Amino acid sequence: MDLQFTQEQQMMRDMVKNFAKTEIEPFIPRMEAGEFPREVLKKMAALGLMGITVPEERGGAGMDFVSYITAIHELSKVSAVVGVILSVHTSVGTNPIMYFGNEEQKNRYLTKMASGEYLGAFCLTESSAGSDAGSLKTRAVKKEDHYVLNGSKMFITNGGEADVYIVFASTEPAKGTYGITAFIVDKNTPGLIIGKDEQKMGLHGSRTVQLTFEDMKVPIENRLGAEGEGFKIAMANLDVGRIGIAAQALGIAEAALEAAIDYAKQRVQFGKPIAAQQGVGFKLADMATAVEASRLLVYRAAQLRSEGLPCGKEASMAKLFASQTAVDCSTEAIQVFGGYGFTEDYPVERYFRDAKVTQIYEGTSEIQRIVISKHLTK
Ligand code: CAA
Repeated sequence: MDLQFTQEQQMMRDMVKNFAKTEIEPFIPRMEAGEFPREVLKKMAALGLMGITVPEERGGAGMDFVSYITAIHELSKVSAVVGVILSVHTSVGTNPIMYFGNEEQKNRYLTKMASGEYLGAFCLTESSAGSDAGSLKTRAVKKEDHYVLNGSKMFITNGGEADVYIVFASTEPAKGTYGITAFIVDKNTPGLIIGKDEQKMGLHGSRTVQLTFEDMKVPIENRLGAEGEGFKIAMANLDVGRIGIAAQALGIAEAALEAAIDYAKQRVQFGKPIAAQQGVGFKLADMATAVEASRLLVYRAAQLRSEGLPCGKEASMAKLFASQTAVDCSTEAIQVFGGYGFTEDYPVERYFRDAKVTQIYEGTSEIQRIVISKHLTK
């Protein structure tokens, strides 16, 4: 297995690293104050980052999946908020249309999503259908040339900011997961109501909202795939999406590790830098080992995806391990910083607040274990 980046992947990495440092880092206080990074996204769009894997003829950058994962990783090292916005926009916002949309849907949406003119969101979760996504209650009833949707969704990342919503609703409740259908919904559709903004412990600046559909009419031509194919569309895109969240977690973990190393080398106690005290040195060693293992899992899953090979099990393994590593490394980084780590003067408390959700969204760690064990025993 080749563990070297290609020249193209290396260029992506350098470009995103530089962009994150110069354009995103100064914006962090504004995001922490709650501002959605619209200005940053515009600049990312100009660099082609909103459509990295979309083919060039559809207005994208036409790059491979590893390049995309490199971008999420490097963005998240500076801002997990920008990382998740891009990950959701791409993996579960744009990809469903790219892989399951018909020609007309691709013409209408894909180019604009790839250019960043449209932002995407994914609407699966409901108040009583989280891990058990197949039990969703949103209903779609077919009438002549349209469907009428009623129901509500929870925890919608990019909600309220997105232009295009991939919505999952049941067209035949008696069929359970086989009765779920996917729809492409424009933001201005009458009956689409943007609800409460969640006040979150972390990822400040990323919007997470509730959505309600009240007799929302969706034209038949906006149905994505066939009736009853929705659950498979959701699951297939989550397989890929989970590599993005794993890369986000890797970015957070790496940032926490680097901050802890820098601080431990400078902070002197008992006459020497704390990095030279075995209690701290061992912590750094464990953190670095877990980060390296996460990196291998994340890029292994990404490489499989780039080659068009099955990657569901590897994606779940990468997310499971990297998200735990992000939580562990950010917790340990605060410990290395001591009292300073508990203040807002250093970024490690932000890493800690941002890390937790990587074990929850796009499938909890418990769901990743279910997916992995199903693959092992099928
Ligand atoms: N790809 C394609 N098809 C798949 C699939 C996959 N990865 N996984 C399952 N399916 C198919 C199955 O093959 C099956 O069809 P067949 O019988 O024809 O084979 C059908 O879907 C039903 O599968 P299961 O019986 O396995 O379904 P289940 O109800 O037991 O659920 C689950 C499986 C893995 C637990 C699933 O419910 C799940 O992933 N839950 C977690 C939901 C989740 O990740 N939510 C995240 C919300 S989005 C989000 O967080 C984004 C954000 O904003 C950040």
